[in-house]
Parts: sequence; structure tokens; C-alpha cells
Amino acid sequence: MITEERITAYINSLDKDLPPQLLKLEKEAEKNKVPIIRKETQGVIRFLLSIQKPRRILEVGTAIGFSALFMSEYSPGDCKITTIEKVAMRLVEARDNLNDQAFPHRDKISLLEGEALDILKELVESKEKYDFIFLDAAKAQYMNFLPELMKLIVQGGLLITDNVLQDGTVINSRYSITRRDRTIHTRMREYLYTITHMDELETLILPIGDGVALSYKL
Ligand SMILES: C[S@@+](CC[C@H](N)C(=O)[O-])C[C@H]1O[C@@H](n2cnc3c(N)ncnc32)[C@H](O)[C@@H]1O
Repeated sequence: MITEERITAYINSLDKDLPPQLLKLEKEAEKNKVPIIRKETQGVIRFLLSIQKPRRILEVGTAIGFSALFMSEYSPGDCKITTIEKVAMRLVEARDNLNDQAFPHRDKISLLEGEALDILKELVESKEKYDFIFLDAAKAQYMNFLPELMKLIVQGGLLITDNVLQDGTVINSRYSITRRDRTIHTRMREYLYTITHMDELETLILPIGDGVALSYKL
């Protein structure tokens, strides 16, 4: 937690209630320790969807489908959502949830199964374009995904990256980070430096949830 817990709890208490079926899925994810977007990130995404009104959303990192179903709820009726996941165990649950009749807007969502980098390259080859990209996968790979994401996002599109502050540890010196986490730490710093210094992007880093970066393609 990178913000004062009581402040976060208070802000979250003001949040609009989720539709019951999403609330149930959120609770199941919590119980089974599946990492899904926190309340704070939900608020950011819902807010951005309401002003951006995207027609084509790309998500990298489906897990069990919570955030894709969440975005299906708050995006325009004709919006299409493509979401990518590679882990078999997650895919079993994602398929079930994305076919569950309890979710009225599930038809907007297409699940692409496999390694994100390969799928992103295929999407680039087929000249797909997106006006809203949500990046929520393996953090160490964000730098590898970025060149492909830049080709997929339209001018005026948004790239939202979750978990960029890594519970605040991203500010720590590399030497205070355990050897196991050093690669991820270095790569996340590189990613943040890159998206904040690229001419094509205007980026804002919000210190909420686990850190969310909002990048606007100029
Ligand atoms: C934090 S979870 C996503 C949570 C989801 N966005 C939500 O909030 O409901 C990250 C997911 O990305 C998947 N993932 C990580 N690296 C990936 C890759 N290279 N290709 C495809 N999926 C990947 C993981 O298997 C995991 O399920």
C-alpha cells in the first residue's frame, strides 16, 4: 500500500457499488488470491472510459476476466474488447466467466490465448488499432511490449499501465532490492523513464493503488 491506508479506505467507501455479478467475481478473486485490479484502479478506468468512450479496447493480462468484464460494463455499447492471457489455469476460469450469462455485456469481449508478445505482433501485422489499451501483465515484459503497443494505439488513444510503483519499492535503490526482484525493478524503472520521456506520449503517474500510469498518445 503506497498511500495512507485510512485515506484509501475512505476514498474506496465513496466508490459506486459494482453490479452484483462483478462484486461476486471480485470476492471470488480475492478469496482465491487472483491479482485483479484494485478498487482505486477500477475508479481510474471507469472515469477514463466515460470520457474517452473507446470503440476498441485492448487488454494485456486477462487473469480470470474481471477487468475485461468490468470494462464491458462501463464502455459504449458498440465497443469491442480484446484481452490476452497465456496461463492455462487462468484461461479455464476466464473462458467460464466470459461465457457466463450473468454478465450482460460479455459479447463485447474476445479472448486471445497465448504469449502476449507474439499476439501483439500478430495484431500489428493485421493492422489492428485501439483507442484504449490496458496493460496489466508481467511487469518485467512491459518494455518488450511497448514498441508493439505504440504501433497499435491510435493518436489520441490512452495507454493505462497498472502496478507501476510495485508497492512503492520502485523508488528504492537497486541494491536494497532482493536479487530475485532486481530485474523487475530495473525494467520497471526503465519503462517508467521511457513512457515519461517519449515525444509521442504525455504520461502521468498516479500514486494510487499499486501505481497507475496514464499515457496519452499525441
Ligand atoms: C495482474 S493479472 C491480470 C488481472 C486482470 N487484468 C484483472 O484485473 O482482472 C496478470 C495476468 O497477466 C498474465 N500474463 C502475464 N504475462 C503474460 C504474457 N506475457 N502473455 C500473456 N499473459 C500474461 C498472467 O498470467 C496473469 O493472469
